[in-house]
Amino acid sequence: MDFESYLRECQQRLSAATSRVKDFAVFDFNHIPDQPLMREECQRLIDIKLRFSLTGIPTHLAVIGSRGSGKTLTLKYLQTIIPSRTDLTVLYANCRTHNTSFKILAHLLGVQARGASLTELYDRFRVRYPNKTVVVLDEVDLMSLKDRRREILYLLSRSEAPYMVIMLSNNPHVLKELDPATMSSLQPELIHFRNYNADQIAAILQDRANRGLHEWDKGSLSHVAALTVRNANADARLAIKTLYYSVTETRRDVEQCFEKARHDIVVDMIHDLSDPNLMILKAVSLRGTDFVKEIYERYCRLSHSRYLKPFSYVYFYSNLSYLQSVGLIALLSAKVGRSYTNRAVLTFDQSILDTVSKLRLDA
Ligand SMILES: Nc1ncnc2c1ncn2[C@@H]1O[C@H](COP(=O)(O)OP(=O)(O)O)[C@@H](O)[C@H]1O
Ligand SMILES: [Mg+2]
Repeated sequence: MDFESYLRECQQRLSAATSRVKDFAVFDFNHIPDQPLMREECQRLIDIKLRFSLTGIPTHLAVIGSRGSGKTLTLKYLQTIIPSRTDLTVLYANCRTHNTSFKILAHLLGVQARGASLTELYDRFRVRYPNKTVVVLDEVDLMSLKDRRREILYLLSRSEAPYMVIMLSNNPHVLKELDPATMSSLQPELIHFRNYNADQIAAILQDRANRGLHEWDKGSLSHVAALTVRNANADARLAIKTLYYSVTETRRDVEQCFEKARHDIVVDMIHDLSDPNLMILKAVSLRGTDFVKEIYERYCRLSHSRYLKPFSYVYFYSNLSYLQSVGLIALLSAKVGRSYTNRAVLTFDQSILDTVSKLRLDA
C-alpha cells in the first residue's frame, strides 16, 4: 500500500469511529458525570460531612480502596455539591503532584511559597480559611519521603480551627506509616471503598455511553464489565478505556481492546512510580526466586549500585503492598517446609517494565 492510500484508509476509519461518538469528554478520566453511580460508602461520607457542618466537630477520615474504585471521583463530585448546600468549604489536593506539606499548603493558598517557612504558610492558611473546612488529600501515601511525618496532618488535626481531613489512598498500609503523635490526634475513621461488581461497572459504562455515544451495543458493555471485574481487580478506569477503544478501534474485538487498554494503563502506572518503587518492581522481575526476602536483597543490591540507601525491610514491604494495591504485583503466601513464606510476582508483561526501567534506571 502506498502512503496516499494508507492515509485515506486511516481517515475513513477514523471518521467512521468518530461519527459514533457524541462527546469525547466522557472518556477523560477526570470527567465528572452529572450523576455518578451512588454506593453505600458515599452515604456515610455525606452523613459525616453534614454532621461536621451542624456541630463543627470534625471526624477525620481515611478512605481506602483499590485503584479505580471511585475514591477520587466521589470526593470531587461531593466538592461540587456540598459547599452550595452547607456552610462547609471543601479543598482538594493531590499528594502525587503536591508531595510535601509545604507544597500542599502553597497549592491550597494558590501561592508560590519560596522562602516562607511551613509555619508561616500554615498561619496564612488559618487566616484564609477561618471557617469549617474539609481538606481532601488524595493519594496521601505518595507524599515524599522528605516529609515522612506528614506534618500537614498533624497541623490540621491539632488546629483549634474547625478542620476536617479526608485522606484517600489505594494503600491500606498508609495508616500504619503515620507518626504516632499524628495518629493520636487524627484518629481517623476508616471508610473502605469495596471493588465494584460487574453490574456497577456496567452501570458506569452505560452512563458514559448514554452521554457520549450515538450508538453502542449493550452486550459489549456487559462483556467489558465482566472482563474488568474478573481480570483487572474491577478498575473502572480500565473499563472506560476499553469502551473507548471498542468504539474507536473498529478492527479489534472487545478482548483485544481490553488488552490494549490494560497495556496503556500499566505503562502509565509504571511511568508514575517513584524511583524506589520502580527499583522494587525491577527487583521483583529479576532472575532468582520470587520469595519476598530474596527480592529485598536484590532491591538492596540495585539501590547500592546506584549509591542510594535502600529502605528498611518494613518500609520496603509497605511499598510492596502499595504495588499490590495498584495491581502491578500479586503477593502470595506459599508453604515452604513447615512455615509460610511470602512471594511476589508481576501481574503484567515484563517487557513493559524493561523498557521503562532501561530509560529511568538504566537497568
Ligand atoms: N461511581 C462512579 N460513577 C461514575 N463513574 C465512576 C464511578 N466510580 C469511578 N468512576 C470513574 O472511573 C474512573 C476511576 O475512578 P477514580 O475515582 O479515579 O478511582 P480511584 O480514585 O479510586 O482510583 C474515573 O474515570 C471515574 O470517573
Ligand atoms: Mg484516585
